[in-house]
Amino acid sequence: MSTTGEKILGRLLTLGQFGHASGIYFRTPFTAAETAAVDRVREWMREAGLSVRRDAVGNVIGRVEGRDPAAKVVATGSHLDSVRDGGVFDGPLGVVAGIEAVAQLLADRGTPARPVEVIAFTGEEGSRFPMGLLGSRMMAGLLAPEEAVAILDREGVPVGEALAQAGLDPARLDRVARGDLACMVELHIEQGPLLERSGVAVGVVETIVGIHGFQAVVTGQADHAGTTPLGMRADALLGAAEIVLALPELVRPSGGVVTVGQLDVAPGSSNVVPGRVLFSVDLRHASPAELGRLAARIRGEADAIAERRGLRLEWHTRQVTTPVATDPALRARIQRAADALGFPWRSMPSGAGHDAMAIAARCPVAMIFTPCRGGFSHRPDEFADAAMIDPGFAVLKRLLADLAWE
Ligand code: HGY
Ligand code: MN
Ligand code: MN
Repeated sequence: MSTTGEKILGRLLTLGQFGHASGIYFRTPFTAAETAAVDRVREWMREAGLSVRRDAVGNVIGRVEGRDPAAKVVATGSHLDSVRDGGVFDGPLGVVAGIEAVAQLLADRGTPARPVEVIAFTGEEGSRFPMGLLGSRMMAGLLAPEEAVAILDREGVPVGEALAQAGLDPARLDRVARGDLACMVELHIEQGPLLERSGVAVGVVETIVGIHGFQAVVTGQADHAGTTPLGMRADALLGAAEIVLALPELVRPSGGVVTVGQLDVAPGSSNVVPGRVLFSVDLRHASPAELGRLAARIRGEADAIAERRGLRLEWHTRQVTTPVATDPALRARIQRAADALGFPWRSMPSGAGHDAMAIAARCPVAMIFTPCRGGFSHRPDEFADAAMIDPGFAVLKRLLADLAWE
């Protein structure tokens, strides 16, 4: 008899086909690939007995009413978008498992006491627009519509235009923010090796790392590669490279992490001295104070390097997400559910950011981690087999029963 984990795995691989193009998987907000994935998720939500709507920023919301119409919503879910050349489990696991858990509970136990929603968030990764948690920030009321619509992607397309092109209505963004959520629980692959290495089936997330995201622009002077002596250049790429190399050594002693994942060189010809370089900086730490100190430290060092090289540096803050603690009462419920089901569990931090971080501004949140193969994530070989999925799914299902059907 096939397990639920096998059904979920099959659906994740099906969903993963929407976003594969020219050999890599990359599903971003307000694109045809996202729309195709949304359409399939809508189908699964309807089959599960949920009514489905899409809010103005593109979050897909499957809902079942509770017997108590005045009760606040018990929510679960995660995101549908991906990083470039990423994996098909990061995000969709929480959506597909949430749909399946609610479907089984409706079949087993009928109408819940409280309304239940499965939410598929848009724009969590920040891989098209340089601000992560786009859909969950708007649902939590953390991002004003007028700010959101102006965020540009790498081609200079604003969110407002991209939304409209995908058939969504930017004029209704002021209706996305919610005040009716009782709690949210997100199931997600760990995206690290701890659970697999320790043979523990269920991770109970205690804290989610804080993230500061920056975009740096180094401006020098484009020049002829052959006729401009080395001593007379304002080479933006050499300045950017020195800054990029300096970052890890500044952050390493703190136990935090820093990553430069995007770097664009202009004008981008092999025989032209680079005049302008744009690069991303992703800085993370579990402590808000450390995060603030490190952000100032790396900015100061970048300024000093640019000045010494006679270059101009612009340093734009693209996102500031403070570290979040999950709710202790929800964590205790997860632990009890895992104990009752006989699954070993462990408390752990999350070095990855998640939609739960944004929703935490509106209601108590919790996260359940499943192991994933090798701890690999944000890469094509990201994978979790049915045996990795089943325990986390069972705990999610039991937790939702506890929260919404009791
Ligand atoms: O970047 C992250 O940690 C998450 O995958 N968006
Ligand atoms: Mn991710
Ligand atoms: Mn994720």
